[in-house]
Amino acid sequence: MASPLILAIDQGTSSTKALLVDEGGRVVSRAVVPVAESQPRPGWVEQSAGELWQSVRRAVAECVAPEQAARVAGVGFSNQRESLVLWERRTGEPVGPLLSWQDQRTADHCHELAGSAELVRSVSGMPLDPMFSALKARWLLDAHDPDRGRSRAGELCLGTVDSWLLSRLGGEHLIEVGNASRTQLLDVGTGDWDPRLLELFGVPAEVLPRVVASCGPFPTVRDLAPLPDGVPVLAVMGDSHAAMFAHAGWRPGVVKATYGTGSSVMAIGGPPDAPGLCRSIAWDLGDGPVHAVEGNIRATGRAVSWLAELFDVPADVLLAEAADPGNVHFVPAFGGLGAPWWDPDASPVIIGLTLATRRAQLVAAALEAVAFQVEDVVAAADQAVGQVSVLMADGGLTRSARLMQLQADVSGRAVARSGEHDLSCLGVADAAGLAAKLWTLGELERRPRPADRFEPALDETDRAARRAAWHEAVRRSRPSGE
Ligand code: G3P
Repeated sequence: MASPLILAIDQGTSSTKALLVDEGGRVVSRAVVPVAESQPRPGWVEQSAGELWQSVRRAVAECVAPEQAARVAGVGFSNQRESLVLWERRTGEPVGPLLSWQDQRTADHCHELAGSAELVRSVSGMPLDPMFSALKARWLLDAHDPDRGRSRAGELCLGTVDSWLLSRLGGEHLIEVGNASRTQLLDVGTGDWDPRLLELFGVPAEVLPRVVASCGPFPTVRDLAPLPDGVPVLAVMGDSHAAMFAHAGWRPGVVKATYGTGSSVMAIGGPPDAPGLCRSIAWDLGDGPVHAVEGNIRATGRAVSWLAELFDVPADVLLAEAADPGNVHFVPAFGGLGAPWWDPDASPVIIGLTLATRRAQLVAAALEAVAFQVEDVVAAADQAVGQVSVLMADGGLTRSARLMQLQADVSGRAVARSGEHDLSCLGVADAAGLAAKLWTLGELERRPRPADRFEPALDETDRAARRAAWHEAVRRSRPSGE
């Protein structure tokens, strides 16, 4: 019989990727389909749920040759998290746009609910913030079902992107537990929807999906040519969680940073209330939830792409130009600051400009902002899980060797840059292959994943001075001035 293949799909903010992986874990085929986002008003970020589903179908059709389709033993998919879709249960038609994780339209509602901030934090594991799905759920239901009558009658379905894709792929209203833990409606300790949070955010239980483990049971696929109907979905994970899995991140002491539009720093374990960090469920492989601490930074790659848009120059060209930033500091608090500050009222600032400042210094300041923001969260993770000596790095922006060296310098820690692209896809392929018994956890730990290492080369005095200047810039971006 022909050897089995795993199909992994990553539905992300800017593209949908598909990979075919063979039984040795080697990538044999890949496809990428871009997806659009729109900003209809300042702070609003939307996508089309229908387009996301079609992008998955196109990526699969481009990735899997007809003669490979029968060898696909199962599908794994990872996804952008927190973004939320409302759809009609009967027809599957989306009701309104998908509200992106980047969307800030509910920022003012955080102030309204400030009296419940401690309850929200202690139950859900995360601070009140417009990034998480709960306030988006309230906004979508207020707009489309103000008295919640249709929600209570079971006519509407709410779901994150995994939930939406599972409903398209397999016709069931489910959500994977790690994704559910990022909605801010789940009790992160038990892995169940929490009635107090549902009440607070005005979300009837009937509109929510059923929570399932990362290895299911999920429905089998349909309408995903060239796959025959009936291929099983074997694993689902949030993208950041899947990248952690690809780093064999269940081993103690592994801390990873994914550098994308924003960034996520994650480590397994840690206490329930680590200052500045969220507590999420990384995954559940069928033997109970595995908890993680995580800090999310809103704008890292976005800071570079904003400059690329401003100067109308491709980001790669800009990155190659980066020079010494001098005294220029750029705090890219677009939509506020995430971890460890969690300040939705912070605004972007650039300080230290002179008449001699040029584009190259601004780009360098943007790269420094990426490195400093990541280090602020790694320092919090260091407190939570113990000494972080090596930071595992992945994501598009890690192509910049300059950024990786900068990260090692400002952090005073070694950085191991993954040589693999698409770690989220690879991680969920690892999990799906585990479910298909193509390999074991031990084999995954031993699987070579190429990485190159950057060692810190800045003396402690310079590092402390640069970090102090960065923190002064952060202070100036915050209305509270803290
Ligand atoms: O938490 C948001 C994150 O999951 C989005 O990731 O890679 O699609 O920008 P990405």
